[in-house]
Amino acid sequence: MSVLITGIGELTTNDGPARTDAALVLDGDRIAWVGAAAEAPDADERVDVEGRAVLPGWVDSHTHLVFAGDRTAEFAARMSGQPYTAGGIAVTVAATRAAADDELRQVLRRHVAEAVAQGTTCVETKTGYGLTVADELRSARLAAEEVDEVTFLGAHLVPAEVSTEDYVALVTGEMLDAVAPHVRWADVFCETGAFDEDASRAVLAAASAKGLGLRVHGNQLGYGPGVRLAVEMNAASVDHCTYLTRSDVDALAQSDTVATVLPACDLSTRQPLPDARQLLDTGATVALATNCNPGSSYTSSMAYCVATAVLQMRMSVEEAVRAATWGGARALRRDDVGVLRVGARADVHVLDAPSVTHLAYRPGVPLTWAVWRAGVRAR
Ligand code: NIG
Repeated sequence: MSVLITGIGELTTNDGPARTDAALVLDGDRIAWVGAAAEAPDADERVDVEGRAVLPGWVDSHTHLVFAGDRTAEFAARMSGQPYTAGGIAVTVAATRAAADDELRQVLRRHVAEAVAQGTTCVETKTGYGLTVADELRSARLAAEEVDEVTFLGAHLVPAEVSTEDYVALVTGEMLDAVAPHVRWADVFCETGAFDEDASRAVLAAASAKGLGLRVHGNQLGYGPGVRLAVEMNAASVDHCTYLTRSDVDALAQSDTVATVLPACDLSTRQPLPDARQLLDTGATVALATNCNPGSSYTSSMAYCVATAVLQMRMSVEEAVRAATWGGARALRRDDVGVLRVGARADVHVLDAPSVTHLAYRPGVPLTWAVWRAGVRAR
């Protein structure tokens, strides 16, 4: 089944400059043709988007969607001046362990559907609210049913019932062995109150030896070794990057490690926003993601992240859109998503607006008009 998308007001492909008067053909789950509307081939179906903007679907490369429970009270306390700490993770761990598989599945499905309805077509999600061998394995299996990319985050927090030494041994041993067949990535929360540099290095080295790609939660709540370690270990991405020294920025710019910024999280935890301008100007690859989770960032809206990046982080609209599409793809070391070119996955987002500028010009307004995810019309 092929679909010709025509009447495009502005086409952002991430494969050359934005163009007007272009058309696009999807065939099955792939992009089959991109070119001038006047030269478009026939297709089984024709969709006239009547002057609207078309861009790749969002690539949300950082979420934590396998969870149960609610942390509204913690959020409200934060808005009254309480600081965010890693300790809140334990509340979600208790609720997640107590939940039945179907409850977790429903929460996961609901949030993925919510994201897709807003133009997200590629979703990464993590384990990390189980923290026992059985619960991490269950989280990985459930995640693999629903999302494109799954990350093992056994090293999210040391659970209260175990010593740090014993827990690192578990995460690098029995837990890793059990979960590795179900995931592509491993991650560690390298931060005061979670895992220190040595423990984080041990977690990453064990995962790498097992053949998993690496990701790091780093420099979220203060300056620290996360970024440096991510670069040293050739992680695909270091996520948060809220507190960066000049040498962290230089190290990222000289590496293949993507700096993934999560502005919705910084706003929800009353942290400063990352210096994306400095990262971009220095030559680092920047991704934007939601960090959707019940504690530090309870939003699935990539458009909100894009608007924030433009309005408050001095990114241009084009830079923010690229970071939320191609940047996310690079953070997942993929080149088949986040881009509209022949052979890429048919992940297409149509805005109810004539240009991507409206994402920042009309913040908070739901602008998604149509979505194809792997060639299937999802909205
Ligand atoms: O990315 N930083 C660590 N993990 C999540 C927070 C999870 C939570 O608070 O439940 C994050 O912000």
